Formats: sequence, structure tokens, C-alpha cells
Amino acid sequence: MTLKRILSGVQPTGDLHLGNWLGAIRNWVDLQEDNESFFCVVDLHAITVPHDPNKLAKNTLSTAALYLACGMDPAKCSIFIQSQISAHSELCWLLNCVTPFNWMERMIQFKEKAKKHGDNVSIGLFDYPVLMAADILLYDADLVPVGEDQKQHLELARDIAQQRINSRFSQGDKAILKVPKPLIIKEGAKIMSLTDARNKMSKSDSNEGSRIGLLDEPEIIKKKIKRAKTDSEIGLEFGNPERPEANNLLSIYSIVSGLGRDKAAQECSEMGWGQFKPLLTDATISAIKPIQKKYNDLISDQTELKKIIQQGNSRAKEVSNQTLKRLKESIGFIKEDY
Ligand code: ADP
Ligand code: TRP
Repeated sequence: MTLKRILSGVQPTGDLHLGNWLGAIRNWVDLQEDNESFFCVVDLHAITVPHDPNKLAKNTLSTAALYLACGMDPAKCSIFIQSQISAHSELCWLLNCVTPFNWMERMIQFKEKAKKHGDNVSIGLFDYPVLMAADILLYDADLVPVGEDQKQHLELARDIAQQRINSRFSQGDKAILKVPKPLIIKEGAKIMSLTDARNKMSKSDSNEGSRIGLLDEPEIIKKKIKRAKTDSEIGLEFGNPERPEANNLLSIYSIVSGLGRDKAAQECSEMGWGQFKPLLTDATISAIKPIQKKYNDLISDQTELKKIIQQGNSRAKEVSNQTLKRLKESIGFIKEDY
């Protein structure tokens, strides 16, 4: 049996939060066991909105360190830095030239981000989903584990591969690019903001209190949960559309406590917020503690971290260069060894 390929990535745009962990990275840890896995830090994506050059490198390394701290094992997966693999930018250009403008105009995340940045919207931000498609297609990924919010980008990657490359340029039945599938794990797929449970928890929310950072000190976590929005009802429950806060905080609790949905719902069904919040705080702090310990070790001496990235980069170059060569030849570029 050949192993399935997995690829995913997170932007190094600030410290990762509970949503990134529960919605994305936590699932990668399991996936690396039975699949050939690639996890990248997508720093090229991070410059699609104005960025601070003094922070980019630091955040890139810290994101890679958090991958490892959350349980990615370099013996089982490749961890690499997107900007160090030039094939990503190159494939992005090639895909740009076959992707219809009106497909891109439908991208919800672009519309939302563009609204936030007003007049200062780069072409890179508009092109973000094509670069993401390049990330995925370069590795012939079978499955792409992401949170729910990325589903539309995955569909775009599939459409580009299938309709704009394979059906136009394949000779015979042999596909040039593998058409990837999204892998959206429902539990924890969307963790919402602590201050407004109608919006997702996000690094780009200007209110720090809306998210729990994986590197937040216990005291900070306690404060944030204490201030988290609640309602006036007693008893926590899932699935009541009138009670998004209850749904969100119970959902976080069910995962960080390890109880799962049914047991957590049972335990908290008659609990008031005053009793529930300390429980959630303790469970969150305990779940994050081992991650913070490992992270601090990796960052205080970065020799091991850099070695792991170099290994990952070198495997990523090997695989991505092959795909790029195959595609360039298929669409008619002159062969390098003519
Ligand atoms: P952010 O919106 O915080 O900048 P990213 O866009 O960098 O997060 O997302 C990185 C990964 O984490 C993606 O796979 C995304 O689907 C997942 N993710 C981000 N926010 C959440 C959330 N609130 N709940 C679940 N998953 C999330
Ligand atoms: N767009 C993704 C996000 O915001 C990050 C990302 C970039 C990604 N390239 C990717 C995710 C490739 C999965 C696969 O979360």
C-alpha cells in the first residue's frame, strides 16, 4: 500500500492560538502516523498584508517550533519554510496564468481581508489562494487538513488542478497534477472568539482578549476566560443557536479536557458559568503546559530546530522540483536538458 501524502501550513503572523491548534495542528499529529506528511510555515503568505520585517523571521522560527512542540515528529514528517523552496513562487506564477480572474473574485477570505485593509490591498492578497494551491499541488498531496474556513481555497486548488491543468494539458489519461481533497475534522473545526462567538478566533483580531495564545501564561489564560462573553442561562449545551458562547466554550472544554463531546455535555449540563469557567481554565492550562515546555526548550537553543528545518527543506525541494519540472514540460516549456 502506498502512503497517502498530506500537506498543510500555517502563516507565521503572530503567536498561534487555540483555534490553530484545535482546528488544525492537533489533527496533523495523528495524521503523521499513517501518511507521508509535509507541514510548512507559509511565510510568503504572511507578506500579503503589511508586515513587520523585524518580526517575520522570529515568527517563522517560532511557528516551526510550535509545530514540534504540539507533537510533530521530524522522524515522521517534513517541516519546512515555504520561502526557502523557490518552486512555490514559480508554480504560483504558472497557475496564475491559467486561473480565471472571476474565480478569484469569489474568494470570501479575500473579500473579508480586503475590507479590513481598505486602500492598502496588494495583488498578493488577491493571489493568496493561488499560492496556496501551488503549495498543495507541488507535493501531489492527497489530503489537506485544514479548518472549515479554508474549504473554499481547497476547492479552488482542485478546480485549477483538474479543469485548468489536467484537462487542458494532460496527454492520455495520466494526470499532471494530483487533485487534492480537503480533510476537515468536525470536532474543533471552528473555534470561535472569546469575546464574540459569532466570529472565529483569529490572530488578526485586534482584541487580544478574543483568543488564547498557545504561549499565554496561565495568569493571562485565567483572565481571558474570566472575561469571556457568556449569557444569562444556567447549564452548558451544544448546538443551541441562541447560545453560541455556550457551544464554543463547551466545545473547547470537551477537547482540552480529553472528555469528548458527550461526557463534557453531561458533566456541564447543569453547571452555572461561575463553576464552569474555572474548570475550563484549569483544563486549558494543563493541556497547553507541555507544549509551552517543549517550545521553550527548542527556542532557547535553536540548533536542533534549525537542523530539523534544513532536513525538511531538503526533502521539500526534492519533491517539489519534480512536480514543477513535470508541469513545465507538460505546458510546453523547453526542457532543461534539451
Ligand atoms: P488566523 O485566522 O488566526 O490567522 P490562519 O488563517 O493562519 O489563522 O489559520 C491557520 C490554520 O488554523 C488553518 O488551517 C485554519 O483553518 C486553522 N484555524 C484558524 N483559526 C481557526 C479557528 N478559530 N478554529 C479552527 N481552526 C482554525
Ligand atoms: N491559507 C491557509 C490559512 O490561512 C494557510 C495555508 C497556506 C495552507 N498554504 C497552505 C493550508 C497549504 C494548507 C495547505 O490557514
